Amino acid sequence: MANILVVGSYVVDLMSRTPHMPSPGETVLGGPFHMGPGGKGGNQAVAAARLGSRVTMLTKVGHDVFGDEALKNFTTENIDTTHVTRHPDEVTGTALIAVDDQRENMIVVAPGACGKITKEDIVKAEQSFKDADIVLVQLETSMEAVETTINLANKLGKPIILNPAPYQDVSQDLLEKIDYITPNETEASLLSGVKVMDEASAREASIKLKEQGVHTVLITLGKTGCFVYDGTSEGGIVPAFSVNVVDTTGAGDAFNGAFATFIANGLSLQEAVTRANAVAALAVTKVGTAPAMPFAEEVEKFLAE
Ligand code: RIB
Ligand code: NA
Repeated sequence: MANILVVGSYVVDLMSRTPHMPSPGETVLGGPFHMGPGGKGGNQAVAAARLGSRVTMLTKVGHDVFGDEALKNFTTENIDTTHVTRHPDEVTGTALIAVDDQRENMIVVAPGACGKITKEDIVKAEQSFKDADIVLVQLETSMEAVETTINLANKLGKPIILNPAPYQDVSQDLLEKIDYITPNETEASLLSGVKVMDEASAREASIKLKEQGVHTVLITLGKTGCFVYDGTSEGGIVPAFSVNVVDTTGAGDAFNGAFATFIANGLSLQEAVTRANAVAALAVTKVGTAPAMPFAEEVEKFLAE
């Protein structure tokens, strides 16, 4: 099984169902409420670990109960916490999540401690970079952390997956060092300047990103699937699996943690994406993010059905 280093966010998800999204100034009576581990980095780490990868997480939490919970959770998930540090005065991050009756979500992330990961925190983990088969990073921490991660992984010749979420501007210099980029429609539109709505526009956006130096582009298209482009053919959509959707929050994270696992284990691009789509499908059938990630056996069973 592959070694995966995840550099990213850990936040506590505070999720409430709502009949509809509140308008500015409106209060909506909603519920039920769920609280659990989240953050794009943490979720992706859990997704990979539950599929059997050996995962090391690099993040930062506060000296508070949420920080204690984070460490306990990672340990329960068999994730190496050597590089989970604690900020002396920042609080552990939180995400306020509303999920409506259409199962769509709106999220406000307050990264707190994980927004304060420094260059030094990354450099200290050099041995974990060396041990990794693949490095997985998102944009939910500080740009300093993201840049240092990409540069160090690149220097050591490690494959890099960038999940550009939530959207932040990424320099051309960094894009050139990325092996796989995994935006959703919105992020792909912002990164490429092409509005992604369908297969043709996904192809156009992928060509733009490839021109900026990214090696392989994977645009996640929700229930449609994932557009895959590496420049060797015109690319195309690997279809999603249709399931009974309960909560789509964290679907992208399920996809990323799974894709990292399958590609690091030597599967073909097509096969890795197909399986990552299956993992994302299973994750949306359950409430919550990290706790909704499926285990390897569930994925095998689902694919055999
Ligand atoms: O991708 C979903 C995640 O984004 C949630 O767990 C929430 O924490 C936000 O960061
Ligand atoms: Na879910």
